[in-house]
Amino acid sequence: MIKTIDWKENRVVMIDQRKLPWEEIYVVCSEYPQVIEAIRTMVIRGAPAIGIAAAMGAALGAQTLAPDNPEEFRKGFQGICREIGAARPTAVNLTWALERMSTTMEGRLSGGMKGVQKALIREAARMLAEDVAINKRMGQAGQEVIRDGDTVLTHCNAGALATGGYGTALGVIRAAKAAGKKVRVFADETRPFLQGTRLTAWELVRDHIPVTLITDNMAGYFMKKGMIDRVIVGADRIAANGDAANKIGTYSVAVLARAHRIPFYVAAPCSTIDPRIKSGEAIPIEERDPREVTHWRDLRIAPEGISVLNPAFDVTPHGYITGIITETGVLQPPFTRSIREALRGAGMRERGEGRSKREAKNVAR
Ligand code: MRU
Repeated sequence: MIKTIDWKENRVVMIDQRKLPWEEIYVVCSEYPQVIEAIRTMVIRGAPAIGIAAAMGAALGAQTLAPDNPEEFRKGFQGICREIGAARPTAVNLTWALERMSTTMEGRLSGGMKGVQKALIREAARMLAEDVAINKRMGQAGQEVIRDGDTVLTHCNAGALATGGYGTALGVIRAAKAAGKKVRVFADETRPFLQGTRLTAWELVRDHIPVTLITDNMAGYFMKKGMIDRVIVGADRIAANGDAANKIGTYSVAVLARAHRIPFYVAAPCSTIDPRIKSGEAIPIEERDPREVTHWRDLRIAPEGISVLNPAFDVTPHGYITGIITETGVLQPPFTRSIREALRGAGMRERGEGRSKREAKNVAR
């Protein structure tokens, strides 16, 4: 299995996703600002993967906190978490992971600084292992929606590279294949960062899962021809009503799927659900560097002086979503109710609800 991120000898090691599929090289971070930079520049990307990177970054940062004074340590750690939490705004997994690290810190603070530092490393490693296990459970639950012989369209990369391993949307496809179903994938190229062309295609070719690459504007054409049976995408943040933020272009795919009566599924762990946000309107959308649109690597492809917009995500309203595949099962509309029940099943304390006043005061947001 592809190792997206790992903790090795007090360092965070990540495969450099900017370089794939041309080069398989690894970035090694020994200080937490390097982890922030890696998240910002998309060395590592994908909601669950950046959550794990944030946790490991926080564990790295904690090693640098010297004071043997709980209050000072808490202050220093909160500052580090705030810095890491600001790296990218849309994926809630970042905040979720940092809140979990803060809760771990609070629980161990009275036992001495060395103990807290070790506990934080263990917690980050646990998140990585849990994420892979969750993806496999999600795959099991979600593969039911794929029929033998289906062609599934996916957008962006919601695979092993976007997670601790196995993937969310691609995990569902992997599980369908493991269950003996014949499944083909259509991968949108996903302008402007080309996660589909570079990452999804790379993963699926390695796994011998038949994959056809199309440009984003071809999806409607192939849907109309009856060549797509299901759409399965990932998510960066899901509001309490089921509205789902994902890579820019997902909304257009959802509208097209509805027009062609094709089931549209979102696959995401419960850590991607943000019950504090009522609807997609309130999800912060990251605006990225215009250079991602005007340039192909170092080559300028747009004329000088052109104005550019580059929102990295859009929100698909819940009405377009057939089901939300999570580790607790496939949630059905009405999502407000099924999400509430799923989060209860997954343990709400992990999502931040039911926190003590002290914990709430100390979370990273
Ligand atoms: O900008 P990116 O590459 O981080 O965007 C990633 C996505 O939109 C993924 O679909 C999402 O994070 C789900 S990953 C399991």
